[in-house]
Amino acid sequence: MMVTGKTKVCGLIGDPVEHSLSPCLQNAAFKHYGLDFIYVAFRVKQENLRDAIQGLRSLGIHGLNVTMPHKINVIQYLDDLDATAKIIGSVNTILNRNGKLIGYTTDGAGALKALRYHGVDPSGKKIVILGAGGASRSVSLTLAKEAKELVILNRTLSKAERLAEELKALYEYGTVIKADELNSQNVKREMADANILINATSIGMRPNDGSTPIDSALLRSDLVVFDLVYEPLETRLLIEAKKRRATTIDGLTMLVFQGAVSFEIWTGRTAPFKVMMKAAYKSIGFNK
Ligand code: ATR
Repeated sequence: MMVTGKTKVCGLIGDPVEHSLSPCLQNAAFKHYGLDFIYVAFRVKQENLRDAIQGLRSLGIHGLNVTMPHKINVIQYLDDLDATAKIIGSVNTILNRNGKLIGYTTDGAGALKALRYHGVDPSGKKIVILGAGGASRSVSLTLAKEAKELVILNRTLSKAERLAEELKALYEYGTVIKADELNSQNVKREMADANILINATSIGMRPNDGSTPIDSALLRSDLVVFDLVYEPLETRLLIEAKKRRATTIDGLTMLVFQGAVSFEIWTGRTAPFKVMMKAAYKSIGFNK
């Protein structure tokens, strides 16, 4: 990759950022198309966020990904939000469009692309999503438009109920949207006729990789199991789902596809998914 006087700079702001896979997968995508773009990670402490966004404006940085802890706080420094980011109240991508900073959230669109990439069409399906935090909000918002039924199960019932109410207000007709507490009885009942299970909780994430959100006896071969956790790549949930011959989608795929949507926002080009996927797996020592 040749850096020139015209190279467009994209990057990531967050704290920490050192272990991010985004530089690897975005630069692989730029290189694939021979685009004069480069992607770098900037560690930005919470108290420096305002200055960082000012710096983005004055340096003419083309686009940014935004990660913890800035996804919500960054909104106040932007000029506009796309419709989804406005509803979700969180931003993971910024586009500098001729000096105007626009915020987007790409998790939902990324999850939908990841499902479709695996040949899974959520339309007419019953989706059970576990969790009602930031990731679940984005994914639920997008999938509620597609699915026949969306059931949100969360440890804190009030959060699931709030999310379901918000979604119902947005989609008055069509999709059946339900909320309940995440417990074994409710999981068992809802999984009986579910088509797609999405884990948007942190259950199974390192160092608690021995835990899993649902009993393996509920996993079936006709089920799609999508785990948003990517550390470890093969969560206990995915290992057990594979044993039952379910279709599985891992959290790295999700990461790649939400990055792919960011790439499309910055470049206007269709993201080279396979190239990005390969780069991401390679960087964590897998060859795919
Ligand atoms: P993210 O941005 O990754 O979604 P988050 O907003 O902190 O992170 O949300 C984490 C989700 O995992 C929440 O739904 C949380 O449940 P609560 O709303 O009850 O906190 C869920 N979660 C985390 N640890 C959990 C556990 N041990 N058991 C059940 N749910 C858990």
